[in-house]
Amino acid sequence: MLLNYKVSIKVLAKFTIIFGIILNSFQSNAQSVSTDPAVIAAGKALFENNCTQCHGVSDEVVVGPGLKGVHSRRPMPWLIKWIRNSTLLINSGDAYANEIYNKFGKTQMQSFDFKDDEIVAIVSYIKDESEKAPVAAAAPVAGGSGVQQVASTQDNSSINYILILFILILVIISVVLVLIISLISKYLNNSTSISEIDREVINTKFNLSSVYNSKSFKGIVTFVFVLIIGKACIDGLVGVGISQGYAPTQPIAFSHKLHAGEYKIGCNYCHTGVYKSKSASIPSANICMNCHNAIKQESPEIQKIYKAISSGRPIEWVRVHNLPDLANFNHATHAKVGGVECKNCHGPVETMEVVQQYSPLTMGWCINCHRETAVNGKDNHYYDALMAAHAKNSKEPMKVKDIGGLECSKCHY
Ligand code: HEC
Ligand code: HEC
Ligand code: HEC
Ligand code: HEC
Ligand code: HEC
Ligand code: HEC
Repeated sequence: MLLNYKVSIKVLAKFTIIFGIILNSFQSNAQSVSTDPAVIAAGKALFENNCTQCHGVSDEVVVGPGLKGVHSRRPMPWLIKWIRNSTLLINSGDAYANEIYNKFGKTQMQSFDFKDDEIVAIVSYIKDESEKAPVAAAAPVAGGSGVQQVASTQDNSSINYILILFILILVIISVVLVLIISLISKYLNNSTSISEIDREVINTKFNLSSVYNSKSFKGIVTFVFVLIIGKACIDGLVGVGISQGYAPTQPIAFSHKLHAGEYKIGCNYCHTGVYKSKSASIPSANICMNCHNAIKQESPEIQKIYKAISSGRPIEWVRVHNLPDLANFNHATHAKVGGVECKNCHGPVETMEVVQQYSPLTMGWCINCHRETAVNGKDNHYYDALMAAHAKNSKEPMKVKDIGGLECSKCHY
């Protein structure tokens, strides 16, 4: 009996070891996701530099699907193929790839020439993030965001409690009032010192339609109605056409942070019109080629520039800033004559991975600056006479408003 036990334990142990080895080799073949913090950190950096413009690690769709749990949704070899070149995988007839491609309106995900372990690192990061989120929500003590979440639900429920309390108090007050009224009218009815007419008034039944028809009720209802409609209209109008913060994804992942920030290429090297004409202009692919005929030729992003040139079709940059046609804005006037720096209107472009609209570009924004900004008299003798005349009448420096910067016709055709 005892012997039997020993044998079976031995067999079991051997079996476990063999099974373990098989499993292990299987896993390393399939490039298992790692829980090593260093790998996860590397994956995080890669993800943030390459994927965040289109993906989040949640269920939320950005441009592409939320990647939460994608490590369990797809096997690693598939993920590697997909991230290296999704088009290739789609064209190979892979059912899942085609399904998701169609589901996202045939938006093409760009290709990344990552090594296997780089992709494994990204997926490890995604797995780590995916498993973090629900834990934080369920165990609020563990993470800062969890605590916040619980606090905010508490806030909500305490507001609900206050509301319920209010309603209860209101109900109690009205019950008490009704009781008092009935008591008083009973008392008055029983009193003998009351005239017939007063008695009639006391006994008139409460009449709803008289409330509906009363002037003050109609007045209040109309007032509230007008208030609500008015608020909706104003909110709607104020928001029309303002797109501050707009930062569309561009066809080539061109980075101002890299070119204007790290490599300190001057803005007007590419935006050639900015000091001499109305439009700053967007550089043609030929300007890129000044450098990229030699730099990073193998990058898929740079290949797109070559493709644009060989096909003769310009790169279709998505316009970020767009004033309505009725407004007249001139870059040379501001950047050259006025000496206004790019960052006053466009913000710190040299730190932006993707350009975004920094200022509201509303009429109020233009006018405010014209009220506050002094005319630039340095290196510009055009204004000498005007400035001298202005100085006679006022101690303040001559502002843009003083040379007609608030006149409708200056900005509107
Ligand atoms: C320019 C936008 C864009 C970028 C950048 C991008 N993706 Fe995608 N991705 C998509 C779109 C769109 C889809 C949906 C499929 C399609 O339309 O091709 C997708 C699908 C995926 C899928 C399949 C998701 C699923 O639910 O099965 C994975 C995995 C993925 N992307 C990973 C990545 C990783 C990792 C990166 C960064 C290295 C990245 N993507 C960068 C747009 C992008
Ligand atoms: C190497 C070339 C290059 C340099 C240098 C450069 N830009 Fe750009 N810029 C571009 C390209 C290409 C685009 C269009 C793609 C985009 O929006 O990212 C662009 C777009 C912009 C836009 C948005 C245009 C729109 O569509 O409304 C602004 C604003 C801008 N650049 C400002 C600057 C400023 C300010 C600097 C200097 C700090 C600068 N750029 C330097 C190439 C360049
Ligand atoms: C004055 C030189 C110069 C000009 C002009 C220039 N670039 Fe670059 N670009 C660089 C340098 C330098 C790098 C960094 C290369 C590296 O990381 O090794 C770079 C990197 C890039 C990258 C990143 C490539 C990658 O895969 O890492 C892209 C995309 C890019 N440039 C697009 C453009 C576009 C589009 C234009 C034209 C609007 C342009 N560049 C004009 C010098 C230039
Ligand atoms: C006084 C504010 C102001 C300053 C200063 C300014 N811009 Fe602009 N910029 C604008 C506005 C407004 C637009 C939108 C113009 C339109 O839609 O007609 C714009 C648009 C652009 C565009 C898009 C293409 C175009 O010309 O419409 C680029 C590129 C640009 N600016 C680059 C620059 C650069 C580079 C500088 C600095 C040398 C600069 N801007 C200085 C306000 C400014
Ligand atoms: C950051 C400050 C600033 C902002 C914002 C700004 N401007 Fe100006 N603007 C100036 C300055 C400074 C001058 C004076 C240039 C000069 O010395 O002639 C000027 C001059 C002008 C002029 C010429 C006025 C004249 O009498 O010759 C026009 C037109 C104009 N701006 C239109 C606009 C419009 C349209 C906008 C909004 C889209 C705008 N500006 C936003 C600073 C600004
Ligand atoms: C400094 C330049 C500037 C001056 C001066 C100026 N405007 Fe404007 N105005 C603008 C700009 C820029 C817009 C577009 C704003 C937007 O799209 O939100 C605009 C928009 C408008 C609009 C709204 C049009 C629409 O479709 O929403 C009206 C109306 C208007 N202006 C009338 C005037 C009148 C009247 C004056 C003279 C009292 C005047 N503006 C002076 C720059 C100016």
